[in-house]
Amino acid sequence: TKDIKILSIETSCDETACSIIKNGKEILSNVVVSQIDSHKRFGGVVPEVASRHHVESITLVIEEALQKAEISPDELDAVAVTEGPGLIGALLVGINAAKAFSFAHDLPLIPVHHIAGHIYASELEEQMNFPLIALVVSGGHTELLLMKSHLEFEVIGETRDDAVGEAYDKVARVIGLPYPGGPHIDRLSSEGTDEFNFPRAYLEKGSYDFSFSGLKSAVINTHHNYSQKGLEVKPENVACAFQNSVVDVITDKAMKAVREYGVEHLIVAGGVAANSGLRNRFESLCSKQEVKLHIPALKYCTDNAAMIGAAAYQLYLKEYFTGLDLNGRSFIDI
Ligand code: KG4
Ligand code: ZN
Repeated sequence: TKDIKILSIETSCDETACSIIKNGKEILSNVVVSQIDSHKRFGGVVPEVASRHHVESITLVIEEALQKAEISPDELDAVAVTEGPGLIGALLVGINAAKAFSFAHDLPLIPVHHIAGHIYASELEEQMNFPLIALVVSGGHTELLLMKSHLEFEVIGETRDDAVGEAYDKVARVIGLPYPGGPHIDRLSSEGTDEFNFPRAYLEKGSYDFSFSGLKSAVINTHHNYSQKGLEVKPENVACAFQNSVVDVITDKAMKAVREYGVEHLIVAGGVAANSGLRNRFESLCSKQEVKLHIPALKYCTDNAAMIGAAAYQLYLKEYFTGLDLNGRSFIDI
């Protein structure tokens, strides 16, 4: 059988990325240009700034991916691109580049859902085993899904307000840490004690949805009350209490889903999968409950195009192609 080589593009948020992968898993190149430094001074991603950076970088990133893979466009079988969800202006840069590439080289165009990409990062390292529960936790998403086979996604829970990573970044800002705050809170939390016992939002009985806005408000209020009394709140204790609350709720719900749906495999992906508290807790719970835990390597957890290519390969096998009228979509069901 013929090898299938797909060039994939990801520009949904603040990384301009292009990757070429063979047969859905062999990574020939994986180029990621991060804009974090440009957004840092604003304390978060500024959509218009993101779009402009994508425009500046996209052609170079695609060329570099081709060079690193030592491949010419006529050896490719398809072009894939993230169609959403994401920042619309940012998505459109990748989509237009993908359309132009597809048209110029007469290649089929494959639209990929960003969340599907995060989950398929797992497929880059080992084959998926179905049924499985997938948890995607990032700066933009908090989704719990059931997959019974390839490309069959059933959302069983999601955030009703902030994404986990977003809550991390906002809380970090309150306690004076730089953007993105997740890694800083993670590091600080191991130096603190849980003196605050912040709320845990389990929502209605049996719900797999998440909510982090109450927790975020609790942090802000605590901070405010302390400073009004002229007291200093220890950032490491806020970090520790916040992280404990987040980890308790997320791991409880994910493990409950694993039991209720009777699956043996759990995938945890997205940027927040880098969190040490979350990893440690999942590792110990999964080993006790004989669940196989799959967490992709960090570079495939944060936004990248290889994960988009891995999902695109499955779509390619089903000939899920789109025309040049493809549009970006900031919200889109998986
Ligand atoms: O997947 P990602 O790179 O981008 C999105 O698709 O959103 O995730 C970035 C998010 C940021 O909110 C960042 O603070 C968070 O992941 N993050 C972490 C850690 N490392 C990154 N959050 C908690 N603990 C970490 N160690
Ligand atoms: Zn993402």
